[in-house]
Amino acid sequence: MKTIENLNAARQGEANACNRYALFAAKAEAEGFNYVARLFRAASFAEGLHRDGHAAAITKLGGKVDPIVLEDVQIGTTRENLTVAIAGEVHERDEMYPEFIKVAEAEGAQVALRTFRYALAAETEHARLYQEALAQLGSNPDVPVYVCPVCGYTVTVLPEAKCPPCGVAKEKFIKY
Ligand code: FE2
Ligand code: FE2
Ligand code: FE2
Repeated sequence: MKTIENLNAARQGEANACNRYALFAAKAEAEGFNYVARLFRAASFAEGLHRDGHAAAITKLGGKVDPIVLEDVQIGTTRENLTVAIAGEVHERDEMYPEFIKVAEAEGAQVALRTFRYALAAETEHARLYQEALAQLGSNPDVPVYVCPVCGYTVTVLPEAKCPPCGVAKEKFIKY
């Protein structure tokens, strides 16, 4: 099943994004960009949820979970790091996840569809929040960032009642 291969590829990407954003958060903090540091930290947590959700789906589909290979991270300025982060999120939002969802639909892999759709919804918000943070860099409003502990949906304004992608109660969101 091609979907198992895709889950492993997506899992590698998520694990590396999780690691990269944690390092970018530390850099943003050192540069005094507190909101951006918080956003990177929250997104790092979300990517870790995606990494683990993809692994669970591989197991449920009877596949083998490949070991994670962490790439070296080039830490730039926070402005550069945001640009790198946006490129990654936009690729996942516009190319990788739509393609993987199409294949999972064709293969009838429901458990993969769910974890891919959760990730796609979160990456869409990550791309938007990073773009906004870059545009406002230096004058970012110092607001909290909230992450859904189930699907990784990441917001600065809590949903009215339930997480849009997964339906968990907003009270469960983790505040950064
Ligand atoms: Fe992700
Ligand atoms: Fe993301
Ligand atoms: Fe959620």
